[in-house]
Amino acid sequence: MVDLFAGCGGLTLGAAEAANGNGLAVDVRLAVDFEDAAIRVFKANFPSAKTQVAAVEALFDGDLGAELSSPERGVARSVGDLDLLVGGPPCQGHSSLNNHTRRADPKNRFYLRMARAAEVLRPRVVIIENVPAVVHDSEGVVDRATAALTASGYAVTNSVVELVHLGVPQKRRRHVLVGVRAEHVSDEFDVATLLRAGTGRARTLRWAIGDLEQHDSTAWTDLPSRASDENLARMRWLIENRKYDLPNSLRPRCHQGEHSYVSMYGRLKWHEPAQTITSGYGSLGQGRFMHPSLCRTLTPHEAARIQGFPDYFTFDSAVTRTELAVIIGNAVPPALAATLVRRLIAAQVFATPGPDPLQSESGGDEFAP
Ligand SMILES: C[S@@+](CC[C@H](N)C(=O)[O-])C[C@H]1O[C@@H](n2cnc3c(N)ncnc32)[C@H](O)[C@@H]1O
Repeated sequence: MVDLFAGCGGLTLGAAEAANGNGLAVDVRLAVDFEDAAIRVFKANFPSAKTQVAAVEALFDGDLGAELSSPERGVARSVGDLDLLVGGPPCQGHSSLNNHTRRADPKNRFYLRMARAAEVLRPRVVIIENVPAVVHDSEGVVDRATAALTASGYAVTNSVVELVHLGVPQKRRRHVLVGVRAEHVSDEFDVATLLRAGTGRARTLRWAIGDLEQHDSTAWTDLPSRASDENLARMRWLIENRKYDLPNSLRPRCHQGEHSYVSMYGRLKWHEPAQTITSGYGSLGQGRFMHPSLCRTLTPHEAARIQGFPDYFTFDSAVTRTELAVIIGNAVPPALAATLVRRLIAAQVFATPGPDPLQSESGGDEFAP
């Protein structure tokens, strides 16, 4: 497989989990990100992967539909035959959390680099992950990517996926586009079924981090950010008054009139999925990131758990807490690629045996509550 805009490798980890569950393994021929810290974490977790700190647009620099450029021919030669191309291009430009630059951000064009990479590498499957608002992009990147992939012989589907339906203990919605090279699926196979919702029951925050409440660890990933006296007082008020939303009178002055920031300065609930984890998980003023029962915000370990990273995944090669927060907040929950790749393996898209019914848990790709 190849992972572009790879971050720490949430998509790769999901694909690896699905492969391992079916007696297969992933061979990461190339993972690219222009942030050194992200690639260090990727490499620490996938030591045999070929990684590169580079701008994706420097490796895939040709126009859609054009002849391969010389850098593109080089990458295609070194990657060779490819089953799976995945990528989550930067999405701040589309995000509804960013109203000012939304829809006119040059970052949106990185989405089309994924379609170009598919033209160059000709994988059996391409998966592009993004924020739901990408469909409103002023340059129509989803439609343009779909048209380019269709012209290259892919059957393409796209949809918004509620990750909570795939076992992620978090209210996170993502836009996913999947293209499967038509010659690798039977005529009856409907690619749209790849993006169907799972049927497991939603997992709660307690499921994800309940065991860490009394966790006695001095590892840096288990230490919460230090709160200001003001924020400590706010958190104490929420616990003492058994409230989850901070009243306006206790908020900073700019939140005291009409506002739509109810979740900011909020406390999480044990019995619900968490809100979307962002790089602000350590800051009370950046979302509902207060621990449900303790006077502190989430630790990096807890945020990674809520994203779906298992404890064996190491973030130790990130150097600063800020780098770590960006890496964890940017990550794609592995459950997304895990579900898709399990379904692709079951559909025999990769020309490997389908899942062994004796080994597959709870009837295939569904998660247990
Ligand atoms: C949404 S994150 C990707 C998360 C990752 N796919 C995962 O599964 O965890 C986007 C990543 O793209 C990287 N990035 C942004 N622009 C880039 C570019 N032009 N070339 C390479 N990497 C880039 C960022 O550093 C960031 O790590």
